[in-house]
Amino acid sequence: MKPSETAQFAAAHRAYHFMHDRPAILEDTAAIWLLSSPLSTILRVAPLRWLFWRPLLAKVRPISAFIVIRSRYAEDTLEHFIYGGCRQYVILGAGLDSWALRHDEAGVTVFELDHPATQQWKEARIRSRLGVLPSHLVLIPVDFERESIAEVLPSHGFASRSNAFVSWLGTICYLTRGAIEETFASLAKVCAPASQIAFDYFQPKSTMTPADLQLFETLDEGGTRRGEPMQTLLDADDIAELLLSAGFRVVEDLSASKIRHRYLAQRSDGLDIPGFVRLCCAERHGAG
Ligand SMILES: C[S@@+](CC[C@H](N)C(=O)[O-])C[C@H]1O[C@@H](n2cnc3c(N)ncnc32)[C@H](O)[C@@H]1O
Repeated sequence: MKPSETAQFAAAHRAYHFMHDRPAILEDTAAIWLLSSPLSTILRVAPLRWLFWRPLLAKVRPISAFIVIRSRYAEDTLEHFIYGGCRQYVILGAGLDSWALRHDEAGVTVFELDHPATQQWKEARIRSRLGVLPSHLVLIPVDFERESIAEVLPSHGFASRSNAFVSWLGTICYLTRGAIEETFASLAKVCAPASQIAFDYFQPKSTMTPADLQLFETLDEGGTRRGEPMQTLLDADDIAELLLSAGFRVVEDLSASKIRHRYLAQRSDGLDIPGFVRLCCAERHGAG
């Protein structure tokens, strides 16, 4: 398995947004140096950007905006949690997420779980830039299709009795339903009651407008070509049921129109998201 290219592209969209869209929804200052050298060069050098990045961006602009917004959503929710005393942040399918690199003074231990190939690639990138891995960052290689995170998290210093905030962005759609169910159930086993998870998911094709369907097919073809096909689309009822049987309750499950209202309403640049995306936050309920 090679390092995830969809993780590279997601970080490239965050880097581009921070450099060019105003106002910035997310200030991902580290994305540009985390990227592979060719992609980083394409974004930095104007003629290359116009030649290679802009045509690609034009085809997927709504999903580009959503990639930025989903990170902002997780970071907003996390901030609230840290304010309430949480000191553990678990990032599932971390890719080139840079929260840990932008918050070394927050007093939060960040557990990044990702496929080994992607994680090794990222680790090398961080070491070549910083010399060392930040001491508050714990990298845990895992394959959600084969391993239970309830087994790997505690053996890496995760404190099950303290509450935690978890994000799982841009990853659920690439997993089988079995792996999604197993991962939610494992999380419920290792996370203390009142821990929360923020994640995004895509709704089934039958709910999509023709324009959204075309965008979705473009994304899916690109992912499949890179060895990362989409596997699971879910609706809000599926998610509520799946969370409930794992031991979580839905705190909020935002439709595209609610997301637009929260993050895009004041903009004049026409930035928009697809109608098939949702952002959900759920809380570990009960005891034990
Ligand atoms: C589209 S990227 C999203 C990365 C990051 N969360 C973001 O928002 O930029 C999907 C991530 O899921 C990870 N992933 C996909 N399948 C996985 C699996 N079976 N086990 C572990 N990680 C997986 C990939 O390595 C990649 O980092």
